[in-house]
Amino acid sequence: TISKTYTIASIPGDGIGREVIPAGQRVIETVAQKRGFAVKWDTYDWSCERYAQTGRMMPEDGIEQVKGSDAIYLGAVGYPGVPDHVSLWGLLIPLRRELDQYANVRPVRLLKGVQSPLAGRSAEDIDFVVVRENVEGEYSEIGGRIYEGTEREMAMQEAVFTRKGVDRIMEYAFELAKTRKRGHVTSATKSNGIVHTMPFWDERFAAASERHPGIETAQFHIDILTAHFVLHPDWFDVVVGSNLFGDILSDLGPAVAGSIGIAPSANINPEGVYPSMFEPVHGSAPDIAGKGIANPVAAIWTAAMMLEHLGEAEAAADIERAIEHSLASEETRTADLGGRANTEEATNAVVDALSA
Ligand code: NAI
Ligand code: MG
Repeated sequence: TISKTYTIASIPGDGIGREVIPAGQRVIETVAQKRGFAVKWDTYDWSCERYAQTGRMMPEDGIEQVKGSDAIYLGAVGYPGVPDHVSLWGLLIPLRRELDQYANVRPVRLLKGVQSPLAGRSAEDIDFVVVRENVEGEYSEIGGRIYEGTEREMAMQEAVFTRKGVDRIMEYAFELAKTRKRGHVTSATKSNGIVHTMPFWDERFAAASERHPGIETAQFHIDILTAHFVLHPDWFDVVVGSNLFGDILSDLGPAVAGSIGIAPSANINPEGVYPSMFEPVHGSAPDIAGKGIANPVAAIWTAAMMLEHLGEAEAAADIERAIEHSLASEETRTADLGGRANTEEATNAVVDALSA
């Protein structure tokens, strides 16, 4: 019997997005059958290809079209011939901002069967989550350029930190820490060099810490923090950062956990007023697109995060176990992890493990 039907907006996008999102959908269909729920897929062709044909990445009322869905499942956008700022500002950023997906969440976990580029690290050593503020901070449109092309040329860009914006990302990080074994939050700062916004960030971190006395905390300046990610990944549990610092850490984190081909991410609207959006960390990989060799695990792990967010925790755990099973053997791992499987074979391995 089917207990529930979720409506999911699927946006495969460009390049390998069109290969790994169908793989993830197959996995979701399999686990849905097992766990007794159903998914109604609304698929959108929003992409650089569409941009080339129509001059827009998505239709003018695109956000209205997906607003009512339970979640958004996105591959990647970007393709040679279309400038990256067009694909980013024409699709990803409007979705994240207008759907108020203010928490960008990237789990960093060294899975069994994956080799970290860090020497001597095993699965127990790397298990943390980067929480990035996703809608304000350093990535603002406030600023400008004057006297272009002259000696007096000048460029200026303002960082925007609001109490509401900072407090809610801190709250998200501390609440997340409560659900994890260690219950520890690290803040990324730079209050020695950036003397207005970062001391404010530190104050709000301290205030959040007082509201959550059971959670241990630490804070580091961003420069030494990046070094600690490499030298002491075992120090971290939940790491919270501003839009810029979080962006840097959320690429570095997955890199120390092995491969961009497995890293998942979520753009969360914690209040559930709008749908949250789930996407693998990787891009459209034009260098391997169309060859059927992309690693589907990032999209599949992303699917697990989406199901967990929708309240299907058991289905999510099933998928994570099936992923670890598929990564255990060279026969079912893709080439980026030193394996011999193509996208379809790697996906089959996950589906088989779920059905077993
Ligand atoms: P990329 O992540 O697409 O590729 C980087 C390298 O990793 C490539 O060598 C690629 O073959 C490899 N790779 C990535 N995913 C893989 C997978 N699943 N399996 C095996 N190998 C994989 O990043 P790149 O090359 O910087 O960007 C390509 C395009 O993607 C650009 O247009 C960029 O703007 C866009 N992009 C879009 C993102 C998004 O939609 N969120 C995120 C990152 C990039
Ligand atoms: Mg990035």
